[in-house]
Order: sequence, then structure tokens, then C-alpha cells
Amino acid sequence: MKAERYVNGRKTRIAVLIFTVVVVALFHFLIPTAPHTYHKIHIVLRKLYFLPPVMAGAWFGLRGAALTTAVISVVFVAHAIVDWPGNYMEQANQLGELAGFWVVGLVPGWLFDRRRALMESLARANEETLLALVSALDMRERNTRLHSQRVREYTLLLANRFGVAERERRAIGLGALLHDVGKIAVTDRVLLKPAGLTEDEWREMRRHPGEGYRLLRRIGFLREAAEIVYAHHEHYDGTGYPRGLKGEEIPLGARLFMVADVFDALTSERPYHEAMGYQQAARVIRENRGKHFDPAVVNVFEAIRPEEWEKVRKRFADANGDTSIR
Ligand SMILES: [Fe+2]
Repeated sequence: MKAERYVNGRKTRIAVLIFTVVVVALFHFLIPTAPHTYHKIHIVLRKLYFLPPVMAGAWFGLRGAALTTAVISVVFVAHAIVDWPGNYMEQANQLGELAGFWVVGLVPGWLFDRRRALMESLARANEETLLALVSALDMRERNTRLHSQRVREYTLLLANRFGVAERERRAIGLGALLHDVGKIAVTDRVLLKPAGLTEDEWREMRRHPGEGYRLLRRIGFLREAAEIVYAHHEHYDGTGYPRGLKGEEIPLGARLFMVADVFDALTSERPYHEAMGYQQAARVIRENRGKHFDPAVVNVFEAIRPEEWEKVRKRFADANGDTSIR
């Protein structure tokens, strides 16, 4: 596992694999088969040929293992012919060794392919379960199904442009998707009231980031997302809730989300306002630079062309909602 952490990219893995094949082949070709002492070392080092098929199987699955084993087979057979001309027994022995490479390469390759397929289906099941949950919540509050998914995509659009690392991106996406999960604890009377909440009702409404955090923090793979959920109503200038966090005290994911969520709210038809066009919404966002929003995130927002927002909007447009940003 430790090695996995250092050998991450596909290109790096291919380079390490080629390097290993070359080093093993060099050992094999350069260490002589006589006298006996050298021959013993030669035989031991020959076992290193098992390494590349296993590495390829673990990193690239069955196809990678087959390709790598084919390459080392060519090198290995060439050597067996050169080193043992006419020695039938030794050549048969070498062929046996060669069969071993194939078994040792193909079995892990097959197992890794299976593991990958299982992981993918598990991730898909996870995603579908979460989508069902947030769609149900969106339907209850807004009579639309895709609000949370759209806001997740907007947040990820900002995160990509911000240069957020892949691992952090995942947590940010989950946090944006689940941001309002705590509203499950808010009564219908308060949640569905069109306007004019009393002080007590506001207090109940403002509990939802904390409730969401408490729900999610117990779930291992959602722990980082829970932090974003907890902070999704914090403002850059410290005027948000529930903790009144300020500036960089607010997790980056929540700062990105805040701009995405407001952009979505402004450009969507709501009972209390018409949908705004891009320019008008962008003006509101600019006006709140350094107030509600992190100035760096607003800069990134402005660097993204209106058509890119529109593309996301179209992909996640509700059937009963407005389908374009004017
Ligand atoms: Fe919220």
C-alpha cells in the first residue's frame, strides 16, 4: 500500500515497469551460467522475472499482465536459446519457468480486474443511494429534483478551476451534494413557509447545518464532506451561521459552494423571485466579494465563461423549471 502512494500516475507506473523489466533482463543476461557459484546466482536472480507480471497485474489488470508477460517471455526465451544451445533438458526446465510467469501474472491480473469491477459497482450503488436521498429532500422543499446535483456540478466547476486536488474534489462534491441534508430535521411548517419566518422559526431553520454535520460525521467516507455541510452557510466576513467562521477558517469546499449555491438560487425561478440572467447574477456575486464570498473564489467564478455555466445548467435542468440562464 505504501508503494501505491508513491507510484500513482499511469505514466509513472509504466516507467517503473519498463525499468524493472530492463534491470531484471540485464541481470539475467550479464550474470554468466558458469562456474557453479555464478550459475546459482543466475538461477536466483532469474526468479525476479516474476516481478513484472505481478506488478502489471496489480496496476493494469489482466491485459497489462498479459502484455508484460508476453514481453518478458520473448526476452527469456531468447536467453534460453542463446545460453543453452541443444541442451534439451535445460530448455525444458526454462519453459516450465516461463509457464510459471504466465500463471503468476494472469491470476493477479484477473483478481485485480474483478476487484476494480466490484469497487466500481459499490461506488455506483453509493452514488445512487445518495442521489435518491437528496432528490427526495429537494422534492420536499422545492418541488424540483435536481437542485443539489446542479449545485454540486457548479461547485466542482469552481473547484476544477481553482486547481483543487482529486481527493479533496471528491469530498467537496459530496459536501455540495449533501449540503442541506440536515433539513430533514426541520418541520414542514417552517421549511415550506413561503416567507416571513418568526425569530423562533429562523432558529429552527438555522439548525440544519449542524444537524447535517451530526448525521454525516459518523459515516467514514463522508467525514470531510460533513465539515463542508457544517460550514455551508458561513460568510467570508464572519456574518454567517452557525459558528460565525471567518475567512480561511471556513473550509475551502464551503467557500466554493457558497458562490455556486447563490448563483443557482439567483438564476433559478423561485416563488419569491424571477430567474436572473448571467450578467445580473454575476453582478450580485461581485458585489458580495469579500462580504459573503471569498474574493479568490469570485475571481475564479469570473474566469469561467457564461457558456460553461449554461452547459451544466442544461445537463441538470429540472423538467418543471427554467432551462437556461438568460
Ligand atoms: Fe442550507
